[in-house]
Amino acid sequence: MPGFEVFGEEEKREISDVLETGVLFRYGFEKDRKGNYKVAEFEKRFADMCGASFSLAVSSGSAALRVAMAGLGIGPGDEVITQGFTFIATWEAIIESGATPVFTEVDDTLCMEPADLERKITGRTKAIIPVHMIGAQANMREIVGIANRHGIPVIEDTAQASGGKLDGRYLGTFGAVGIFSFDAVKTITTGEGGMIVTNDKGLYLSCSAFHDHGHEHIPGVERGLDNRRFMGFNFRMMELQGALGLAQLAKLPFIIQEQKRNKETIKTALEKIEGITFRRILDLEGDTATFLAFFLPDGEKARRFNGVLSKNKVGAIYYRDNTWHFYPNWNELFNGTTLCKSGWPFKNNVSGIDLTYQKDAFPKTQGLFERLLVYPISVKMSEEYLTRVTAAIEDAAKEVL
Ligand SMILES: Cc1ncc(COP(=O)(O)O)c(C=O)c1O
Repeated sequence: MPGFEVFGEEEKREISDVLETGVLFRYGFEKDRKGNYKVAEFEKRFADMCGASFSLAVSSGSAALRVAMAGLGIGPGDEVITQGFTFIATWEAIIESGATPVFTEVDDTLCMEPADLERKITGRTKAIIPVHMIGAQANMREIVGIANRHGIPVIEDTAQASGGKLDGRYLGTFGAVGIFSFDAVKTITTGEGGMIVTNDKGLYLSCSAFHDHGHEHIPGVERGLDNRRFMGFNFRMMELQGALGLAQLAKLPFIIQEQKRNKETIKTALEKIEGITFRRILDLEGDTATFLAFFLPDGEKARRFNGVLSKNKVGAIYYRDNTWHFYPNWNELFNGTTLCKSGWPFKNNVSGIDLTYQKDAFPKTQGLFERLLVYPISVKMSEEYLTRVTAAIEDAAKEVL
């Protein structure tokens, strides 16, 4: 997911526009900023690309999740459903909001399993967060259908799938609100940064105020002379990030196109091997191609296959052992470890609910992940590297399958 690979003159030009004014703050300083509103312009172009009515840039993808939940009024006593394969930020943001994370199995899309979502909905469920993991679509047709039947808003965690689509529509625009990440390793990057998109003006205004200490951002009203409808916090993006975002956004179609080409080369080698199957991608055209995920017949073969790849210095990711993205390895969640001496937020929660989770709660997901290997795909994969990967795959197939 490598926006940093394509840094060039465009990023430098955008950044120097900002440095020449000395204005790093996204609001105010009208006399000094020489017409530069990089964050606001980045927001507008991102919303235009997605076909969303409103967008709000924030300081990170994690912040985007937190702000979106604040905008939806989520807090203690509420449950928010997400999936057992995601980056920890998704459930950290739920806990930071005071709410209780509830998890689902993932299916062979590697995203939320709709049937398990349906089972997990209770009277307390106040939001559903499907995550478009490792570059491709969650099953939004079914997930949004279920959510609508129950009248629950969907927050799409699109941190790992900027520019992805389903049925021609941009990911992040199927639910009430979509969030994106532009952290250092994402498809487009601003170093740290995130975006919220929505078509709901009221939700946008609430998010906008919450992310900036309650400021109302009323055009024509001087900053500081506005009122505060409610308390907020600081999750603002700054102008240097907005500048980077503008340059990176223009390169997004190129990034995805190159990744698709590289992914296809490796996939072609894997397709020749009997016994290998692929992650189900609901819309190949809309894949961002940041990862290539494939299954071996069983866990033992997956580990041996990856052993041969690693010996050839082209090892794949074995998410089953990954401590950041895979539910059974989230030890701080199971052990309730926190810096807070009272045990909050796992214990002494204001909702009166102690958070407890079982490691072995998702047998289907665990079964899938035993067999799953994933190649990260980037923009600049040399012919030499791709040839080495292809040869290593052939070696591994001969040895293991
Ligand atoms: C699925 C998912 N959600 C949220 C985030 C958080 O984004 P950030 O790193 O910008 O806070 C990430 C980051 O990796 C992610 O992968």
